[in-house]
Amino acid sequence: MANSTFLWGASLSAHQTEGAYQEDGKSLSVQDTRARKNHDIADFTVAVDHYHHYREDIALLAKMGINALRISIPWTRIIPAGTGPVNDRGIAHYNAVIDTMLAHHIEPIITTYHFDLPDNLQQAGGWNNRATISAYEAYVRVLFSHFGDRVKKWLTINEPNIMLLADEKIVGFHYTHQERYQAFYNLMVAEKSAIQACHEIIPDGQIGPVPNISYVYPATAKPEDIRAAMYFNAVRNWAYLDFSVKGIINPILHDYLHKTGVELAILPEDHALVTQNFPDFLGINYYTSATVEFPQKGQDRLAGISDQQSEDVYEPNFYKGVTNPYLAKNQFNWTIDPLGLETTLEMINDRYALPIFVTENGLGAYDELTSDHQIHDTYRIDYLAQHIRSIQRAQAAGVPVQGYLPWSAIDLISVHEGIRKRYGFIYVERDEQDLKTLARYPKDSYYWYRNLITQGGLQDE
Ligand code: BG6
Repeated sequence: MANSTFLWGASLSAHQTEGAYQEDGKSLSVQDTRARKNHDIADFTVAVDHYHHYREDIALLAKMGINALRISIPWTRIIPAGTGPVNDRGIAHYNAVIDTMLAHHIEPIITTYHFDLPDNLQQAGGWNNRATISAYEAYVRVLFSHFGDRVKKWLTINEPNIMLLADEKIVGFHYTHQERYQAFYNLMVAEKSAIQACHEIIPDGQIGPVPNISYVYPATAKPEDIRAAMYFNAVRNWAYLDFSVKGIINPILHDYLHKTGVELAILPEDHALVTQNFPDFLGINYYTSATVEFPQKGQDRLAGISDQQSEDVYEPNFYKGVTNPYLAKNQFNWTIDPLGLETTLEMINDRYALPIFVTENGLGAYDELTSDHQIHDTYRIDYLAQHIRSIQRAQAAGVPVQGYLPWSAIDLISVHEGIRKRYGFIYVERDEQDLKTLARYPKDSYYWYRNLITQGGLQDE
């Protein structure tokens, strides 16, 4: 890991950090309009006000020693109507953000889309409407043309798999089964159009997908449970990477769609786009593994589970999420499985053999600010250290992991659990409803990560 080209970074998304939700010409996205069941949690109107604090935040992150920062750009700031005129104020803002990063020797890695479809496009059918694909392509072409001279690494669409599987928790509405898979297909075609456009517009640019990939374990050695894991691996993981990297609909997903009565509308003209444009690398988000069993008749999903990524999954006759008795959990009910990251990376390398950047990984926790403005987050340090160790072991086993960009650079608003679930290296003083000072305080994990970066990784292997 101690090579000079390895990217030691951090990640964030725009809607969870920026705020300024109606400033400088920005329109509303589905993140601004989505229904929130839990009304006492923070929304994204101010978030952590990164829109106004970006210079301070980037300077603090530079002092932590990172050489790469993953951000996202909101479509609603660049083309507020979803299609049509470009908003110059949006372009000017991200020019300034990118230039600030570069001035601090931080490589910008930009996600074009992080759960934040312009709301008016959602009203017109969203990802079930083919017109969204061409609107997305036009939007990313604007990004590549304006920022491609300085930004050489791009990520397409953040976690389309989690967005579709945990729809209500992430985007605030429910897809029918048919809609979910038509949206899957349309999203994946849109991703291909971004890959094509990036290669066309930025000849020395690189682009990759950014799904959330966690290897799925069977609950037992029962053959039915093995098949449950086979299906959920295909549905959750391989369907997305197979489409991106191989240009195919994964055969097990195909079988699952057939058995569940889904008919995909596929246009003949998609074929060339899908089979001729491929990513340069893979961005992989990983928090937890998943374990499933074959569901017994009449069984329901696990009650009281808030975990969007593994246990809260259920498809009658195929798979049902279960609690893995061998794994500890975090305060928000997500299992902690560092070895699962090593397994996942090796499986991904076995199937796709492309460079990998771990573009999200981190621990959501209740942090406590002491009276002298410190945060003693040893639990986060432990989590990160265990996962970095796994990455180092995967590298030693031959997996080309080229960067680690944990979630999150600074505290942000969790997708559905508010600011109480903190991930950052830098604490932001606010709570769910009270904006307080919005002051920034480095946590213990900030100093620990700085030291680790200086040493080029964990030294105790
Ligand atoms: C990923 C998303 O799914 O998980 C992030 O890309 C998100 O946007 C992260 O914040 C953690 O999930 P949550 O629900 O704890 O915010």
